[in-house]
Amino acid sequence: MSISTSSLPPTDCADGASCNPSRRALLLATAGAGGAMVVGAAVPFVGSLTPSERAMAAGAPVEVDIDKLAPGDMMVVEWRGKPVWILRRTPGMLAALAKAEPHLADPASTVEAQQPEYARNLQRSRRPDVFVAVGICTHLGCSPSSAFQPGNPALGADWPGGFLCPCHGSTFDFAGRVFRNKPAPTNLEVPPHAYLSDTRLIIGADSPV
Ligand code: FES
Repeated sequence: MSISTSSLPPTDCADGASCNPSRRALLLATAGAGGAMVVGAAVPFVGSLTPSERAMAAGAPVEVDIDKLAPGDMMVVEWRGKPVWILRRTPGMLAALAKAEPHLADPASTVEAQQPEYARNLQRSRRPDVFVAVGICTHLGCSPSSAFQPGNPALGADWPGGFLCPCHGSTFDFAGRVFRNKPAPTNLEVPPHAYLSDTRLIIGADSPV
């Protein structure tokens, strides 16, 4: 497993707990045509943008090339100032979803605001192998870290793999569903997203734009 990153400034949790800045790291995606915001090395400093460019940067959909995202790898892109995870799940990660289910607070994703309708399924995604989620804990806004290894000693021998929020210990499965009796009140948010092709994803739109 690898996670592609580049550093962002430190961000504190809302309750004053310190969030590890490395966990806020983002890989800035290369965006394409169609009016999507271009992020990454080519992005001009926001102060140099015109008002309309700033509006686009704040809310425009982001196109992402996932061609090189191998099974087990995760990349992070920025959309509306938030980190969005794109995880290509392995067959083992997909199998872990069913294993986690009895221990989840909301396995059926009943809180409608947390995902589009097309992501209200076991995988919480449009494509079983690709999981897209906003990487911000629904408790107080820390950025959860990967805890992909099943049986992680810190999380117990029956840990199926997923994500751990370092601030207050909320845990999430490979579909961003929160485990029971944790501070986070809901599953992680799945943003609107769509596929432009097998290898190009758009974040922030429900259909190709
Ligand atoms: S911010 Fe409190 S558990 Fe994540």
